[in-house]
Amino acid sequence: MTATIIDGKAFAAKVRSEVAAHVARLKEEQGLQPGLAVVLVGEDPASQVYVGAKGKQTVEVGMKSVEHKLPADTSEADLLALIAGLNTDPSIHGILVQLPLPGHLNSELVINSIDPAKDVDGFHISNVGLLGTGQKSMVPCTPLGCLMMLRDHHGSLSGLNAVVVGRSNIVGKPMAQLLLGDSCTVTIAHSRTRDLAAVCRGADILVAAVGRPEMITGDFVKPGATVIDVGINRIERDGKTKLVGDVEFASASTVAGAITPVPGGVGPMTIACLLANTLTACCRSHG
Ligand code: GUN
Repeated sequence: MTATIIDGKAFAAKVRSEVAAHVARLKEEQGLQPGLAVVLVGEDPASQVYVGAKGKQTVEVGMKSVEHKLPADTSEADLLALIAGLNTDPSIHGILVQLPLPGHLNSELVINSIDPAKDVDGFHISNVGLLGTGQKSMVPCTPLGCLMMLRDHHGSLSGLNAVVVGRSNIVGKPMAQLLLGDSCTVTIAHSRTRDLAAVCRGADILVAAVGRPEMITGDFVKPGATVIDVGINRIERDGKTKLVGDVEFASASTVAGAITPVPGGVGPMTIACLLANTLTACCRSHG
């Protein structure tokens, strides 16, 4: 069997064009422009690339983009003061503090200082609690993008067995909550799970978010299952740097029914969902 490739790049382009059309309508009908502020502390190269891509795409859909690039030795008090200012700025509807933060900053404290209504990452403890209890919240972008692709591919997810490999606050846990919300039977597996391959082989939907290059091979996949690969790992192979997922694509794609590639799968959907969340925050803030 050769799996259907779920094209996240094309799907993300569709989401962005829908967001852009909605943004244009908001401007025309209500004179409103959604605004996103991204805060980057320090000079982590990967973070700089992500922040640059976010800013570019925010502008492309017609939103206001503000970037705050702060030195690595920024004090917690200064960062909290910046966020307090963004919380009360009426032109800003979404605030994203790029993670990881330098070690001297308390990430939880910083994230929880963001107005939950502007927390477009969905990391604030209020949004985590709202999602966990099935209430209206801001939903973390990566799991939201995965859910959108799964719904698009399957239609209803009701009753399917979903296994999420990875228990992070950013992906694994919210992904499990979202799948539960769509009436899947959900298992969260992780590095300590006994006989991980057997657990994964029970999955109709397998979401890999472990951060280990190509750990999930074809023997972890039930024939015909849908495999969503959240991993983005840079590895050296044949003297070249290569981007690979947490899934070994070559073997998994011969067993799966559908699979997301890396690159071009989950990655592009994350930023598209960030833009969608910023639009949602703007619409909610204006009734
Ligand atoms: N660093 C890696 N992924 C993310 C994300 O989704 N949001 C933020 N704020 N930082 C990240």
